[in-house]
Amino acid sequence: SRIAVLKGGRSLERQVSLRSGARVEDALERLGHEPLPVDVGPDFVRRLRDLQPDLAFVALHGPGGEDGTVQELLEILGIPYTGSGVLACQRCMDKVLAKHLFVEAAIPTPDFFAFSQVAFRELGAADALAEIEAALGFPIVVKPSSQGSALGIKFAGDPDDVPGALVSAFAYDSKVLLERYVAGRDLAVGIIERDGEPQALPIVEAIPLDEPFYDFEARYEIGRTRFVCPAELDADTAAASSEVALRAFRLLGCRGFARVDLLLAEDGSPTVLEINAIPGLTETSLLPQAAAAAGLDFDELVATILDEALA
Ligand code: DAL
Ligand code: MG
Repeated sequence: SRIAVLKGGRSLERQVSLRSGARVEDALERLGHEPLPVDVGPDFVRRLRDLQPDLAFVALHGPGGEDGTVQELLEILGIPYTGSGVLACQRCMDKVLAKHLFVEAAIPTPDFFAFSQVAFRELGAADALAEIEAALGFPIVVKPSSQGSALGIKFAGDPDDVPGALVSAFAYDSKVLLERYVAGRDLAVGIIERDGEPQALPIVEAIPLDEPFYDFEARYEIGRTRFVCPAELDADTAAASSEVALRAFRLLGCRGFARVDLLLAEDGSPTVLEINAIPGLTETSLLPQAAAAAGLDFDELVATILDEALA
């Protein structure tokens, strides 16, 4: 088939997306398809109308590509595409919305609080700090609501750290998520659908080697993080983690594939941080590692994603 590979775009994860996209193009060639690279910019609709692809492989990350925007245009153009649809992408990209939905469905997620920049200004810093302290205590993690790859995320150990952390988060998004810090292990559950049935892949644990956090650099520089897959977990903990990840995937209405990021608290209970509707497919990304541990090489992973998009 002729498959448009949508990559790049204008989000801060542009470089990550270019790497995911290039890797997908190589796999498509090996699978006997014709990859048509499309760097997503203002002429993207015209390009797709000229190319008339059979399918679009969406390898975009971050706002403008992973948030339902491009998916909506593909719906209008009538081009089938890989991965989640418009609404699921919107729900996954908005961490605050996703957490409200998790709470409603009794899916464990760290306690949280959210501010828009406008609400924060109206409240004033002192009252905002008092609300944060009353709702969550310390330490907390401050995150822009809609970014990927840990961009703009800061740890706040006490109230003095909050103003700086908020400035950082508000630089990325007008809505900020403040989350109770849960000490524990960083786990990721890759999910792929086969014949319409989501399946959890072996769990990956990310252990940052010299950073307190699994941050942007730790994610993409080789040698900054040790990945263990399958993660060393007892059978009950692994089953509970996979189960909660699958529930989250279904709840947000994801399709095709996704990666659910979890924290395993020190008491052994998994808690859901977020779902990535279009997880990274780079050499250091977690979903391809999880697929490999399940016996699926990168080409087979891409082929499975294509099959689900065309089903
Ligand atoms: N946001 C990056 C691409 C990831 O989740 O892998
Ligand atoms: Mg993410």
